[in-house]
Amino acid sequence: MQYGHFDDKNREYVITDWETPLPWINYLGSDDFFTLLSNTAGGYAFYKDARLRRITRYRYNNLPLDQDGFHIYIKDNKTVWNPGCRPCGTKLDSYECRHGMGYSVITGSRNRIEVSQEFYVPKNDNILLMRVTVKNKDKKDRNIDLFSFVEFCLWDAQDDTTNFQRNYSTGEVEVEGSVIYHKTEYRERRNHYAAFFANRKVDSFDTSRDAFMGVYGTPASPLAVSNGKCSDSIAHGWQPVGAHHIHLDLKAGETYDVIFGLAYVEVPERKKFIAPSVINKEPARKLIQKYDTNEKFDAGFKKLHSFWDRLLSRFEVSTSNDKVNRMVNIWNAYQCMVTFNMSRSASYYESGIGRGMGFRDSCQDLLGFVHMIPERARQRILDIAATQKEDGGAYHQYQPLTKKGNSDIGGGFNDDPLWLIACTDAYIRETGDWDILKEKVDFDNKPELADTLLEHLRRSFNYTLNNLGPHKLPLIGRADWNDCMNLNCFSKHPGESFQITGPSEGPVAESVFIAGMFVKYGKAYAQLLRHLEKNDEAKKADKAVKEMEKAVLKDGWDGSWFLRAYDAFGKKVGSHYNTEGQIFIEPQGMCVMAGIGTETGEAQKALDSVQERLETKYGIVLLNPAYTTYKLNLGEISSYPPGYKENAGIFCHNNPWIIFAETVMGHGDRAFELYKKTCPTFLEEISEIHRTEPYVYCQMVAGKDAPTFGEGKNSWLTGTAAWTFTVLTQGILGIQPDYNGLRIDPCIPKKVKEYTVNRLFRGTMYHIVIRNPHKAEKGVKELIVDGQHVDGNVIPLVSKKNVNVEVIM
Ligand code: BGC
Repeated sequence: MQYGHFDDKNREYVITDWETPLPWINYLGSDDFFTLLSNTAGGYAFYKDARLRRITRYRYNNLPLDQDGFHIYIKDNKTVWNPGCRPCGTKLDSYECRHGMGYSVITGSRNRIEVSQEFYVPKNDNILLMRVTVKNKDKKDRNIDLFSFVEFCLWDAQDDTTNFQRNYSTGEVEVEGSVIYHKTEYRERRNHYAAFFANRKVDSFDTSRDAFMGVYGTPASPLAVSNGKCSDSIAHGWQPVGAHHIHLDLKAGETYDVIFGLAYVEVPERKKFIAPSVINKEPARKLIQKYDTNEKFDAGFKKLHSFWDRLLSRFEVSTSNDKVNRMVNIWNAYQCMVTFNMSRSASYYESGIGRGMGFRDSCQDLLGFVHMIPERARQRILDIAATQKEDGGAYHQYQPLTKKGNSDIGGGFNDDPLWLIACTDAYIRETGDWDILKEKVDFDNKPELADTLLEHLRRSFNYTLNNLGPHKLPLIGRADWNDCMNLNCFSKHPGESFQITGPSEGPVAESVFIAGMFVKYGKAYAQLLRHLEKNDEAKKADKAVKEMEKAVLKDGWDGSWFLRAYDAFGKKVGSHYNTEGQIFIEPQGMCVMAGIGTETGEAQKALDSVQERLETKYGIVLLNPAYTTYKLNLGEISSYPPGYKENAGIFCHNNPWIIFAETVMGHGDRAFELYKKTCPTFLEEISEIHRTEPYVYCQMVAGKDAPTFGEGKNSWLTGTAAWTFTVLTQGILGIQPDYNGLRIDPCIPKKVKEYTVNRLFRGTMYHIVIRNPHKAEKGVKELIVDGQHVDGNVIPLVSKKNVNVEVIM
C-alpha cells in the first residue's frame, strides 16, 4: 500500500494520506540551522547541535505521537483544523505534503478554505521560514482566525527534559510588535536568543504555554484558539512559547499570506543589552528584514533550489529503471547530505541528546557526500582526525558544537582508526588533493601534539598492528563496527553500558571483520604511500597486509564462511561449532571486498553461504541463527529479541558490503537483485509493512525471526545511505574515482542494454554512455574518449569542461 508518490520532476515525495505508518519527515537546513519536519508539521529546530542548542521542544515517545512542531491552527466558526491534519485531527477535504530538497509544503483544505505552509531554511541564515497562504475558494466572504504556535526549548535539550526544579523558573521573553523574543538564560552565560516573527501586524499573541493551551489544555484544542484570540501573555518561567493570532476577513476568492520565521541570533557579549534587561534586537531585525516580503522569501527559495541543482548535477544517471534513477539522482544523494549534517545525532529515533558525531559513522558518511561537497568533506576529515588519540586509537564520538572527543564514551572501538584511512583515500581519489596529507592536525584536540594527516593515517594503520591477538588477528577492544558485539565488556546489571562496562580492552578477543578492513584499507594506505614515493614504507605495509590475509585464511576461516571473531576466552564466534550465531554478515562482506580468498575459492564459498543462510526477501540478516538468550560474553547483540537490530535483523548498512562483494566477483545480476531488496523506492508499494519513508533508507528492517518481519526502523541517519550510494554508483554503475582519472568498471545485470551517466570529476563533466551489446555482467571491452580509443578502463584526466565517453562492455 502507498501513502503517496514520487514527483521526480520536482524532486519531491508527495504524501497524500496523512496517516502514514510513522511520521515521514524531511530535513531543512544545510549550514548551521536545522529543522526536522514531519508530514503533519511535527518536528523541532536547533542550531548546530541538537543537544546543546535546541530551539524548540520535542517529546519523542509521547502520546499522541509527533505532537510538537510548527503547527498552525485555522479557526473557521466553531471548527478548528490544521492544514497538516495534526494535532486537531479534524477531517479535511484535501491534504498533501510535498517533501523536497531542503523544503516542505503542506497544504490542506476544508470547507472551501485552502491553507498551505511552505517551509524552508535559507542558505547561510539561521532561520526557519514558514509562509502561510490562506485562500478563500468560496463564493462568499469568510471570517477566519489564524494562529501560529511554537514551544521553546530552554536550549540544552538534556537539561530541558530533566532539570525542572531549575528551569521552571528561568524562562524569559520580550515582545515587540509581531516579534516574540525567547531570551531564557540570556542574562547569564548565553549570548544568543531566538525570535519568532510574523511579517504582518498581529491581533494578539501569547508567550505563556498555560495561557495559550490552558493549564490542562491539549495541542488538539488550545484554549486561545477556542476563545478566538490570545491573551497577550508574557511568560515568567514555566514554558515560554510563541503564538501569533491574526484575524482575517477574506473576500470571496481572496488570498492572504503571512510569513512567519523562527530565528536564532547571536550577539557579541558587550552588545547584549541596550538597557537593563532589554535585549539588543538589532541583529534579529536585520535577519528578519532579509525575509519579510514575498519577493525576498521567493528569492531565498530560489537560491536554495540552485544550491541543490548544483549539488545533484554532479552525478546524474539515466537508466531504464525510474526507481534506480530517483535514488541516485535525488533521494540517496540527499540522504547522504543529511548524514553529513547530522551524523547520528538528530532524527525521529536519535534524540539529539544521545550521540554526537560518530568517528566511524562520519568517516563512512563521507563516502557518500565527498563528490558533492569536496571542500566541506576536507574540513570534516581534519575535524575527525583532530579527535584521534596519540596512539592512533580514536574517540568514538565528538560533539559537533565543540568538535572535541567525547570522553564519556572514550575510545577503544578498534575499527575506528581504519575508517580514517577509508575516508581520506576516498577524498583523495575524488579530488586529487594530495596536499591534505601534509595538513597539520591535532591529536586529541591538543595543538601541541599536532602532526601531519599522513602521520594520523600511519598511526591508524599501526594501531591495528600494535593491537593483535593470539591468532595475529586484530584485537576487537570494546567493539568493532558492530557496536553491539561487546566481547570484553560483560555488562551484567541493568543500566550498565554494554560498551564501556568491565575490562573493555582485552588481550584475547579478536575481530575477523577488522582483519578484513585492515586488508582492504591497508592496501589503499600502501597505494597512497607508493604515490608519495615512500616505497620502503609501502612495501612494509604490503607485507603486513599479506600477513593479515594469511591469518584470516588460517584462523579466520570456518570452512564455508569467514568466522566473525574470537571471544575473550578464545572461543569462536560465528562458527558452525556454535549453536546460535553461526554465521555473520560483516566478515563475509568485508573480507570479500578486501579480495581475501577471491583466487582460492573462499570468497565465493562465503557468498554462497550468505545466500543460503542469511538472505531473505527483504534483505540479508546480520546473523543466523538468532540468539535466543542473553550471552554475557557477547553483550548487547544477544540482548535484542530474535530478528531485531544486530540480533539477526536486516541491518541495512552491511547489505551493500555483500552487494559490493558480489561486484568484486563479477556478479551483476546478483548484485542488483540484492540492491533492490533494501532499496526504499522498491519498497514503496509495501509501505504498510516497511513503515518508514519510501524515499530514504532506514537502519534496520526486522529479520525473518521477528514477528514483524519486513518492518523498518531508525530511518535517515544510517551509514546505509553512503554505502548504498557508493555501491550503486561505483560497484554497479561502475563510475569509480581513482587517483589518475575516472575508472569505468560496471557490474550490471545482463539484461541492461545501455545507460548514461553525467559525472563531474575534478572540474570536468563526463558524459558517459555505457552499452552492453553482449549481455555481459562485467568487463569493459572498449573505452572511447572524445572519439579516441583508450587502453584499459581509466579515463585519463584532462583540463576540458566537457568530455564524451563511450564504453562498450
Ligand atoms: C552505529 C554504528 C554501528 C552500527 C552497528 C549504528 O547504530 O551508528 O556506529 O556500527 O550501529 O552496531
